[in-house]
Amino acid sequence: MSTERRILITGAGSGIGLETALHLARMGHEVIAGIRNPQKFEKYWKSRGEGSIPPFSIAKFDVTSQRESKSQIGKLLKTGPIHTLINNAGYGLYGCFEELPDEDFRGQFETNLFGILNVSRLLLPSMRELRNAQIINISSILGRVVLPTGSAYCSSKWAVSGFSRSLRYELAPHGIQVCTVEPGLIRTEFKANMQVPSLKQLQGPYGPFNRMIASELKQYGAFSTPARKAGKKVAALVKKSRLPASYRIGMDAKLVYATTRILPESWLDFAFKIGTKQQFKKSSQTNTK
Ligand SMILES: NC(=O)c1ccc[n+]([C@@H]2O[C@H](COP(=O)([O-])OP(=O)(O)OC[C@H]3O[C@@H](n4cnc5c(N)ncnc54)[C@H](OP(=O)(O)O)[C@@H]3O)[C@@H](O)[C@H]2O)c1
Repeated sequence: MSTERRILITGAGSGIGLETALHLARMGHEVIAGIRNPQKFEKYWKSRGEGSIPPFSIAKFDVTSQRESKSQIGKLLKTGPIHTLINNAGYGLYGCFEELPDEDFRGQFETNLFGILNVSRLLLPSMRELRNAQIINISSILGRVVLPTGSAYCSSKWAVSGFSRSLRYELAPHGIQVCTVEPGLIRTEFKANMQVPSLKQLQGPYGPFNRMIASELKQYGAFSTPARKAGKKVAALVKKSRLPASYRIGMDAKLVYATTRILPESWLDFAFKIGTKQQFKKSSQTNTK
């Protein structure tokens, strides 16, 4: 097989997905960007000022819609196989569990987990025939550790990582490699697209946590990684003849990963509890000033 691959990336209208698509297209691969709202993307693309049209084609589908995904992927497969699938579409739902509406929690899993299942299912039969395919699932370092206010997002990413790691061994005999990517904080549209239904509840029992989210939303912090660099790292994975089981992007993710490998769980638990208590106290005091 030639080294040029046909690659489908979901949620490629911004952030990690878009930057990965751009890197892969520049490397000479045929890239298909799965985008649910092409009009929104068109505006965004123009605002970037990088030429009149992007160097990839667009398939319009929402990963939560089995009907749309089936129709678009069916059309794509009529014109040739997909060698690499990058399951990237996702968003963050944040807030304390008791204040999260059930339908929002389920919606988080619909996109972050079931979206991956929908798209993967549609491509697996043709990928098994190819016997030389790749699936790269974008999870998160929060699919390995957790944060307060992240019960929805973290559990959805733990599910993605668990699914992905099991799939790796089921598909290995069929020549399909699976890799779980665990980025740390990446500067994308993620915070702008975050859903925080409890953000106005600043006085209740979880008020200090909600104020913590509100201040986190305003900045990305020194340890965050630019989207372009993250896209370059994901694109570089596609070139590998052997995909690693998991791969981290960003100093923060690498540091957290190393810590989880070195320290006993009881120490990590203690550090997290102390850190959370201090932040909660600080945030409570901010409110009384
Ligand atoms: N940024 C971070 O710090 C970070 C860290 C770890 C992991 N991640 C993961 O990286 C992935 C990409 O996120 P990002 O940081 O690049 O954020 P982003 O800029 O918001 O990109 C996410 C993309 O996913 C699309 N999307 C969301 N729901 C979709 C659906 N149901 N169907 C199709 N497309 C959908 C969005 O489309 P619209 O434009 O239409 O909303 C958007 O283009 C996500 O899975 C995220 O969880 C991000």
